[in-house]
Amino acid sequence: MTHTIQPSNPEATPAPDTTDVPATAAGAAPGASLTGAVNRAAAAIPAALKRRVPKYSDLAPLMQFKKPEFSRAAKLQRASTIWELRDMAKRRTPQAPFDYTDGAAEAEITLRRAREAFLDIEFRPGILRNVSSIDLGTDILGKPSRLPVGIAPTGFTRMMQSEGEYAGSQAAEAAGIPYTLSTMGTASIEDVAEAAPNGRNWFQLYLWTDRDRSLELIERAAKAGNDTLMVTVDTAVAGARLRDVRNGMTIPPALTIKTVLDASYRPAWWFNFLTHEPLTFASLSRYTGTVADLINSMFDPTLTFEDLDWLRETWKGKLVVKGIQTVEDARKVVDHGADGVVLSNHGGRQLDRAPIPFHLLPGVKEAFTKDHSDAAIILDTGIMSGADIIAALAQGADFTLIGRAYLYGLMAGGRAGVDRALQILEKDMTRTMALLGVSKLSELTPDHVRILGR
Ligand SMILES: Cc1cc2nc3c(=O)[nH]c(=O)nc-3n(C[C@H](O)[C@H](O)[C@H](O)COP(=O)(O)O)c2cc1C
Repeated sequence: MTHTIQPSNPEATPAPDTTDVPATAAGAAPGASLTGAVNRAAAAIPAALKRRVPKYSDLAPLMQFKKPEFSRAAKLQRASTIWELRDMAKRRTPQAPFDYTDGAAEAEITLRRAREAFLDIEFRPGILRNVSSIDLGTDILGKPSRLPVGIAPTGFTRMMQSEGEYAGSQAAEAAGIPYTLSTMGTASIEDVAEAAPNGRNWFQLYLWTDRDRSLELIERAAKAGNDTLMVTVDTAVAGARLRDVRNGMTIPPALTIKTVLDASYRPAWWFNFLTHEPLTFASLSRYTGTVADLINSMFDPTLTFEDLDWLRETWKGKLVVKGIQTVEDARKVVDHGADGVVLSNHGGRQLDRAPIPFHLLPGVKEAFTKDHSDAAIILDTGIMSGADIIAALAQGADFTLIGRAYLYGLMAGGRAGVDRALQILEKDMTRTMALLGVSKLSELTPDHVRILGR
């Protein structure tokens, strides 16, 4: 059928444009010509463009005044990016724990570059694909996950907000994604298992100088139903986290003149902190001191691949090695029996100017394909949006982890804040996939992403 287009209001059909024609040449008397032209132009204004006094019936549907909502839940719902949750987190959390979370090592170059790596891409969408339903589900380390992202291990989490590990593990359980408890977590392995009994709980291990204590932890993790052990290998010594040094950050936060002043405008955090169980650790008895001292006293700079072999023999579940920063090391840990690697520089908190995990992806993917290895490639560091996750998957990651992105949610609003962070990421991923013309994660390829030069 052919469509013909008619003027909708014949009366409004524009008069012939005579503005370029000299008035005398158009046959009008000199002097009267300008007024005539103006009148003709006025007659040509469509009725819809003529001004009139507004009627109440026009205004009524536009008036949607609502009672302003100041509840935490409403504020969380208004946040539509992880960056906005970060702003809320910063307002609510004292400077020392906020900086402990937000900060990175030395000049924080690694973290900045990791985030820039995600910004320096261009998506290459396909058009006219049926994207009416988007499936973000995937399998990771032998089991399904509803989203291609899990929660990374983070230490001292109840110091950031008193719900800490309970909020993280329960939000992950509700979202159908894995949760990783850190060796430095502030809830025990058993308490997390009890809080999120239907969740997929993983345990992150720092290998200890004391092998018997490592063994004890591994046994507890297995007994509590953790199916995956994630051993972190990038912390031979503590990174220089200068914000912590400047803030005099201690575990637990000490009451000094500075912190008491800080407390005066963040009373809710202090109230929560002081009215809940004191901080205890997943694996340590109570500790008082600086983070760097704690790491340095706990970790073993003499660890080698032989220790990884010992771990492989000891742990019967899935074993992944976190903190892989070169293609050669990715291959090597898989040769030593790892089921997966986490390409990570610890969120930029250890070595500054470290390799950026996103840039490592193509090399690791190629090496694993060449070796016919089905080891999982997991990526973290720098993820602040669902689009970052989709870009990582397109470049070859099987799965991703988030650290700060969920911690900002936690500091902004406890469990509800973590839920909100996960909702934001899920929405971002769904939208990005649809706009890319992709309905399943398996359809993502490196061709969907072009890396721009800086
Ligand atoms: C506050 C904080 C504490 C962390 N604690 C640990 C930890 O105890 N064990 C570990 O393996 N990684 C730890 N990490 C690193 C994370 O597991 C993850 O690698 C990192 O946060 C990823 O970067 P992102 O924060 O940009 O997502 C920590 C990260 C943060 C931000």
